[in-house]
This record gives sequence, structure tokens and C-alpha cells, in this order.
Amino acid sequence: MNQRDTLKINVDGRLEIGGIAAGELAKEFGTPLYVFDEAHIRNMMRTYKKVIDEEYGGNGLVLYASKAFSCEAIYAIAASEGIGVDVVSGGELYTAVQAGFPAEKAYMHGNNKLPSELEFALDSRIGAVVVDSRTEADRLDGLARKKGVVQDVLLRINPGVEAHTHAFVQTARTDSKFGFSVSDGTAAQMTDYLIKKPNLRLCGYHCHIGSQIFEKQSFVLAANKVMDFISQIKKSTGYEAERLNIGGGFGVWYNDDDPKLQLSDYADYLKTLISAVKAKAKEHGLKEPFLLIEPGRSIVGEAGITLYTVGAIKDIPGVKKYVAIDGGMFDNPRYALYQSKYTVLLADRANEPCCEKVSIAGKCCESGDLIAVDVPLPEARVGDVLAVLTTGAYNYSMASNYNRNFVPPAVLVKDGKAEYIIKPQTYADLVRNDVIPKRLKQG
Ligand code: LLP
Repeated sequence: MNQRDTLKINVDGRLEIGGIAAGELAKEFGTPLYVFDEAHIRNMMRTYKKVIDEEYGGNGLVLYASKAFSCEAIYAIAASEGIGVDVVSGGELYTAVQAGFPAEKAYMHGNNKLPSELEFALDSRIGAVVVDSRTEADRLDGLARKKGVVQDVLLRINPGVEAHTHAFVQTARTDSKFGFSVSDGTAAQMTDYLIKKPNLRLCGYHCHIGSQIFEKQSFVLAANKVMDFISQIKKSTGYEAERLNIGGGFGVWYNDDDPKLQLSDYADYLKTLISAVKAKAKEHGLKEPFLLIEPGRSIVGEAGITLYTVGAIKDIPGVKKYVAIDGGMFDNPRYALYQSKYTVLLADRANEPCCEKVSIAGKCCESGDLIAVDVPLPEARVGDVLAVLTTGAYNYSMASNYNRNFVPPAVLVKDGKAEYIIKPQTYADLVRNDVIPKRLKQG
């Protein structure tokens, strides 16, 4: 089975996910609604894990980058698949721990981890912290000393690889806010610095070159550069890194400008990367490092769709036709932020030929609140269920209550059954933390 087999248009021309018609889900759970396909998520996790097991003797760990979609159920799925996770905040770590996820399989990232987050990571006995500043190294070492523990750390380095992707998601350029540059010598200096920290144990290096990347060579280039760096450090200091974390970034299909990758293609990315690491280890006479990868988008992106109901249609003749939905930038800010492209379908008439180009407008009081611009669609009518595909990554996780709209609930579908994994918010939730100071109270 391929990862996309459970998302299809059935014989009646209705969009189906995980064995249920999307239109039925909209009826049962209401809209807007995030829908996640469990089979797809598990297929992706298994594919990566299998390659590490079979091609690298199990000498590595897949870390699901939970910033892509974080809620208790996703950590439960990751745990049951035997993979690790990457967390970037106390909140993500807390969610994982609440879900019963084993913290020793979690790695913590972030360019400014708060003292409280570091403390929580130590108390949870986190697997490793990926150090991203000198201040953080001092802080973590101090906290670990107080607690009488030695914490495993990786150092985030910046190999200077530029991947072909949206500028905002390039993170390993020399001017990035993340990591220490290999080329200017700061990565080597920080290595020395960390080795001397009594309550930290430097286990190796981490880099992440960006997101939504399709060129295998970008990952190979990054891996080669980091392996060369490991060798150079070994020669100059005698320190040999045991672990290499190459980050995430494998791309997904959003619309037909993107390739539609199959499970075997994702496996190939990883196989190519592994061959490069092995070759470099041989070239430099290094041990093959414990290999970590951190895919987020490719695990959950295409597994998720969002369902909306069309509430209004505004045709400005010769200019634009807007189809207004009951969601918007509060559940998916990616068009507003990155002009991201999406594929849009009418859930119950998914086979009907597209006859016009429309823009999907959200309901926020803001002209830039759009989900898609000039996308092909059959003629939409008020009440139609509209499906936006590939919304599993960085949609729920970037959602907000802007305009005091609800962050939509999410359901997980499998074998024709759907269950909530994130319950609907209520008006009471919106005011739960609001406080009116006494002096402002009426009467
Ligand atoms: N590891 C690190 C250290 C990262 O910074 C990221 C993503 C990942 C792993 C996972 O990358 P993925 O496999 O998901 O591409 N909000 C943006 C994406 C920001 C990605 C940030 N880092 C978007 O909506 O496109």
C-alpha cells in the first residue's frame, strides 16, 4: 500500500479519506475540521524507520518533528511506531510527556530555549538537547550541575548549504539565526567549549538545511560537509562525534507544481543520504555515526485535509470571484505568510470538471486572509463542503484564535472510522484566561 492510497475520489465522485466520505465527516463533526489519515502517518513513519533498520543496521533513530503537528495523539502514534520525536518548546515536550511518550526518545531544539524549558527537559530526562547558543550551554550546564546530572547534547551547526525552497524556511545559510557556522570557525570553537562543560556530554552534531526540499543532493551535500567537519575536529582535538542529526525537510505535494512522491521515493532520499554518510565515514576513517533524521512535513503533511463549508460567494465581474469559507488564516495562515499553494476540491463533486478560477477567502477581518488565489474549481454553491488538501503540517500547529474564531477540532480516521483527537473549542474556552480587573467591573 502506498501512503496516499487512503485519500481518493470514489466512484460517486466524492472525496474519501481513510474509508469515509469527506462530506459525511463534515456532516458528523461540522466544519471547519482538520482530518488526519492514520494509515498515511504510520506508512511514512514506518518507511523511514525501515530504511534505517535495513540499510544502516538500526544504527539511528527517526525523530518526528512535532512542530509540524503536535497533539497528544500524534505522540501516541510515534511511540507505538517505535520512533522518537523532536520538540521545540516546553509545550511540545509537555504534550509528549502527557501522552506517555518516552522522553529519552525526545530531542529538544530551539534558538532561545527558556530556562524553564531547559529545566523541564532535564526533569523529564530528555534524550538530548540540541544546543544553539553559548548562553544556553552555560545555562544548561549550570542547571544540570544543580540537579546532579550529565545531560547529552548535540551542537547545532550550520554547514552553509542553501536548499531550493522558500526563503523563510532556509535555515542553514551562513546568515541564519540557527546554529554555528562551520566556515567561520565558530562551530569548532563551540565544540571545544562544550567538551569542557562538566555536566554536558557532547554526543555529536545537528544541522537542518530547510524545508519543502526535493533535491536529494542538498541532503547529501549537507551530510558530506558535516562529516568533513567531524573529521577535521577529530584531527585537531581528538574528539569524534558519535551522533549525526541531519534534520528534516523532505518535500510534499501541495499542487501539481510539486512532484507526487511515493513511499519508495522517501525511502530513496534516506538511502542516498545513508550511502553518503557511509562513504564519508570510510573516506575519513571515522566510525559510522548514529544517524538521526527529523521529518515533520513529510510525515503528516499529505495525511491531513481541512474541510470547510462555503458560506458566501462574491463575483466581481472581470476581476475576481471569491468563495468565502467558515475558516481562514486562523486555521491556516500559510498563504498569508508564504503565499503557499494548495489544491482545493469540492468534497462531494470532486470529479466535476473545473470551470472557473476562484479565490478562497477566509472569514477574518483582513483582506489578506486567503487560503488560495485563482485556483480551478467547479462552480461552488453556498453550503458546499470544500476540501483543502495537504494541510496536515504547519496548519493546526500554526493556528490561532485570531478574531476570536475557534481553532478547529481534528479527527483521526482509520478504516472507515473517525474519532476526535482535538476536541472543538467553545466560547467559554475563548474567555477562560481573561481577567477583568476589579476597577473595570461594571456596577
Ligand atoms: N528539524 C528542525 C531543526 C527544523 O527546524 C524543522 C523545521 C524540521 C526538523 C522539520 O522540517 P520538515 O521535515 O517539516 O520540513 N512553518 C513553515 C515550516 C517551518 C519549518 C521549520 N523547521 C511552513 O509552514 O512551511
